[in-house]
Amino acid sequence: MATKIINGKEVAFHLREELKRKVYELKAKKGITPGLVTILVGDDPASQIYVKNKKKACEKIGIYSEICQLDASTVEGELLERIRRFNNNPQVHGILVQLPLPKHISAEKIIEAISPQKDVDGFHPFNVGKLLVKKTMAEILKSEIFIPCTPYGIIELLNFSGIQMKGAEAVIVGRSNIVGKPLAYLLLAEDATVTICHSQTKNLAEITKRADILVAALGKPEIITGKMVKEGAVVIDVGMNRLAVGLVGDVNFNSVIEKVRAITPVPGGVGPMTITMLLLNTVKAAKWSAGL
Ligand code: GUN
Repeated sequence: MATKIINGKEVAFHLREELKRKVYELKAKKGITPGLVTILVGDDPASQIYVKNKKKACEKIGIYSEICQLDASTVEGELLERIRRFNNNPQVHGILVQLPLPKHISAEKIIEAISPQKDVDGFHPFNVGKLLVKKTMAEILKSEIFIPCTPYGIIELLNFSGIQMKGAEAVIVGRSNIVGKPLAYLLLAEDATVTICHSQTKNLAEITKRADILVAALGKPEIITGKMVKEGAVVIDVGMNRLAVGLVGDVNFNSVIEKVRAITPVPGGVGPMTITMLLLNTVKAAKWSAGL
């Protein structure tokens, strides 16, 4: 079977070119420069790379971007106060608090403190709830809801690759608030039949083998192997495991490649899409804040 490698970099490039034009227009016609603040607490090396990459991507398409770097010992109250100030700053359209946070800070409390209108991650309960009650993707896109970036990027990749979601059996491995759960809502809105598996799932391989679309988002290097995948399936690998050999996904690429119809590589698959959808959400935030 000829396998299609889904090129996330290429799709991301096209979307970013389109966004660059939109940002230019917003500036030229409305005098608005979209602005994103990323807050990083502590010095986790992976988080530092992600935050820097986000800033670079913003600058490349004309979005104003600022990193608010705070010491690992920052107390919750200080972080809440910073968020309050960014909430009240009209030049800041999007606020992102990089996760994970140090253990002494409640991520739930912090996420709830971000204005839902600036929650470009789509993690605030207001946006999560809104997403959940919408029935179709058209309804979601019509309303002023922020869609979490990684799941949104996956839906865009599937669309660009011409992969039918309607009626497909989709299996997601991983139930995180960042990927697994919101992706389930989006795939449901696209009329897929959705199953979420997790660490306590019995007979995982039996379930993953049913999938027309299999999404690996559990954060364990190369755990999904050829034996767990149906012939002709589409495999989306969300894994970003930094090992001594380099960046490795949750899927054992070489063992599934002969069986699948299409697959996202790591790196160069889902990763570039996540940042792209953050840029898109920031542009949306700027437009919505101006009533556009
Ligand atoms: N950490 C890993 N992924 C993400 C993400 O999408 N948003 C935030 N805020 N933190 C993350």
